[in-house]
Amino acid sequence: MTDRKVNVKPAEGKLGVLIPGLGAVATTFVAGVEAAKRQLGAPIGSLTQMGRIRLGKRTENRNPLIHEFVPLANLSDIVWGAWDLHGQNAYEVACRSRVLEQGLLDKIRKPLEAIEPMKAVFDPVFVKNLQGVHVKSGPTKMDLARQVMADIDAFVARTGVSRVVVLWCGSTETFTPVSDVHRTLAAFEAGLSESHPEIAPSMIYAYAALKKGIPYLNGAPNLTVDAPALLELSRANAAPIGGKDFKTGQTLMKTIIAPGLKARMLGVEGWFSTNILGNLDGKVLDDPGSFKTKEESKLSVLDTIFNGELYPQLYGEIHHKVRINYYPPRGDNKESWDNIDIVGWMGYPMQIKINFLCRDSILAAPVCLDLVLFTDLAQRCGWSGVQEWLSFYWKSPQTGPGLAPIHDLFQQQNKLENTLRYIMGETLITNLGLDYYMDEV
Ligand SMILES: NC(=O)c1ccc[n+]([C@@H]2O[C@H](COP(=O)([O-])OP(=O)(O)OC[C@H]3O[C@@H](n4cnc5c(N)ncnc54)[C@H](O)[C@@H]3O)[C@@H](O)[C@H]2O)c1
Repeated sequence: MTDRKVNVKPAEGKLGVLIPGLGAVATTFVAGVEAAKRQLGAPIGSLTQMGRIRLGKRTENRNPLIHEFVPLANLSDIVWGAWDLHGQNAYEVACRSRVLEQGLLDKIRKPLEAIEPMKAVFDPVFVKNLQGVHVKSGPTKMDLARQVMADIDAFVARTGVSRVVVLWCGSTETFTPVSDVHRTLAAFEAGLSESHPEIAPSMIYAYAALKKGIPYLNGAPNLTVDAPALLELSRANAAPIGGKDFKTGQTLMKTIIAPGLKARMLGVEGWFSTNILGNLDGKVLDDPGSFKTKEESKLSVLDTIFNGELYPQLYGEIHHKVRINYYPPRGDNKESWDNIDIVGWMGYPMQIKINFLCRDSILAAPVCLDLVLFTDLAQRCGWSGVQEWLSFYWKSPQTGPGLAPIHDLFQQQNKLENTLRYIMGETLITNLGLDYYMDEV
């Protein structure tokens, strides 16, 4: 034990989770939590619910459950709200998304039906393959942001929650690079007032949340809170931000396998990744603008893990391709194929093939839960801005200025666990382990 360095406020009262985008991921997350509350299913894949953390030396045998070690909100304290442009309640969306079985959904029908989306801030310029029927209107983007803030106030007043986290589970917006209007808070607020065309709907939700001191998490590859203006607001209002793009199927596999190849100094010449996906997300990603946003997020992973500049002979020229094909018969059950061309001793080529038959929203739901609970913890620790310790959950993790992101899943896990130890004043684990053998030297 070291001296406690962080004064964590207790998780008192209810925690509101407000979700822009009540689609397959959001309803699988919400329904899963409601089912887990009633012991109708296990929250598998969630570190906060199922994971343990080692404390102290290996000989001490101290391995508490994470939710008993750090003060996290209980599942029973979560209250839901959402925005969407379709106007259907969470039960209707969960049924048509066909991720969870109807029998389970019917057992939690009441709490799901109670989640009716508020009108969305939506602009078809940013998501070409969707049409909005349940959307807000207003003279300027600033007015729309004020309407979102009023929604948040009404939600807090109605539910009596003491804290809120906003989690974007909306569609992937078209690629919008950071430009002058995003650089400072002053420029951004002026841009909202004049409805600048480069301010995306997701940024309007993020602005509204951060303005109220509420953390904002970005489950899509949109560059929402990468905008320096929103980072500035996050710091000013003591609200953490997190993003971007949930790390689930193929990229999760990449960040498990690539670090192993690199650790053993096996060369890589190419990595070809293709997917078939038939849900609404797949349909949205069929638009080249939205795909470009996703592609940027998916491609960044290997460059950082392999670092071709430091190892030109092994990783100097990796042919990395990512394809997503919209194929309706598969629904949410994505199938991905990876072909990896690797090189070993004396330059001999070898191949690895991975065929992952996954379920997109089943992999994303526990990530949503952990992100919400850990980000609420971060805010109660008094932290704001980018939460790099949560890189574990992101396909394209945000970092502080000038820092290369960490993509290696095991380095990310180490960072997350050591952060929890740090918060609770426990000794950080370096795995040096020499002290176990001191008698022998
Ligand atoms: N499932 C995964 O494994 C995974 C992994 C990484 C990222 N994501 C991302 O998570 C997001 C959600 O995925 P999904 O499968 O639930 O998609 P989905 O299409 O089922 O749901 C997205 C919902 O967002 C709504 N929406 C779009 N724009 C909105 C706006 N401006 N305001 C409010 N609602 C809006 C849509 O109407 C839709 O209901 C997508 O961006 C996807 O790329 C998913």
